[in-house]
Amino acid sequence: MRVRKNSGMTQPLYELPKAELHLHIEGTLEPDMVFALAERNGIELPFESVADLTSRLQFTDLQSFLDLYFACSVVLREEQDFYDLATAYLKKAHSQGLRHIEMFFDPQAHTMRGVGIDTVIDGLKRALDDAFAEFGITGGLILCFLRDLPVESAFAVLDAVAERAVAGDLIGVGLDSAEVGYPPEIFEQVYARARELGLHCVAHAGEEGGPEYVEGALDALKCERIDHGIRSLQNPALVERLRASQVPLTVCPLSTVRLRGVETMAEHPLPRMLEAGLLVTINSDDPSYFGGYVGDNYIAVQEAFGFSDAAMAALAMNSVAASFAPAGRKAELRGEIAAWSGRR
Ligand code: ADE
Ligand code: ZN
Repeated sequence: MRVRKNSGMTQPLYELPKAELHLHIEGTLEPDMVFALAERNGIELPFESVADLTSRLQFTDLQSFLDLYFACSVVLREEQDFYDLATAYLKKAHSQGLRHIEMFFDPQAHTMRGVGIDTVIDGLKRALDDAFAEFGITGGLILCFLRDLPVESAFAVLDAVAERAVAGDLIGVGLDSAEVGYPPEIFEQVYARARELGLHCVAHAGEEGGPEYVEGALDALKCERIDHGIRSLQNPALVERLRASQVPLTVCPLSTVRLRGVETMAEHPLPRMLEAGLLVTINSDDPSYFGGYVGDNYIAVQEAFGFSDAAMAALAMNSVAASFAPAGRKAELRGEIAAWSGRR
């Protein structure tokens, strides 16, 4: 992964305190870690070497990425694997200004291979607890359902974590994987049950699917946030609805370029979304696959659009506003961002 710095100086945008609200922990598996975990767990990989795997990090669309993402995820088997993965991410993201994380994970990608769901949650939670102790990073876990699996599978996962959800080990549910052909409405009852368990609700919508997927996530799933949501712009009435309600959109600029949602960063709709008054946040999605962690996404946006430091701080403020952090923590984080702005 390329880490960008200003001619050897520390990159100021890495120091801007920020929250990340759209991060798949399986999407932080770096090629060298894929090979290290495969060796540790005695798993044979369909790649010859780290260089071979690295050369495959080029995608034509969402599905071409998902194929590689799931092929690599098989190296995750033990609690320690999930701990090591999340710890590596948290350390890197900390060095890029991360202060609060709402971390996605895909339990069905693991349980279908015989890994226990508690194994996954225990490893991730231990990493988050340690990152809080070491760096003061706050946050929690959002369990994502794979939308291209049957709805019964999603219900089974939710039942399996119900006690832990009520105990506070999870903060929410999400919906990911292949979007087109799998509309949000399929999961209406699953989300209703998740809300009964006290979980927040988010969903990927409008990444490759049209604005009707965003409307479905709002109406059927009662989502509090929309992940990506960039195709909302195709429907002016939906844009007005998102503006008026200030439902946040977790945008992932490098991801959208690498998955060919736009040709180049210059064509990314982020400036238009901001001009329309939408509550937009910047996130990394799957940083080891898309060429950058959360701070790198901020840098790419500033470079592409020439946004001022004040505009970048406003985007960090959005990440705090859009988070599920308690009010006191939000106030703290706003203070940290204001202090960064004061030093600029
Ligand atoms: N799973 C991991 N990354 C994803 C993305 N960008 N869209 C849908 N599902 C995903
Ligand atoms: Zn995503």
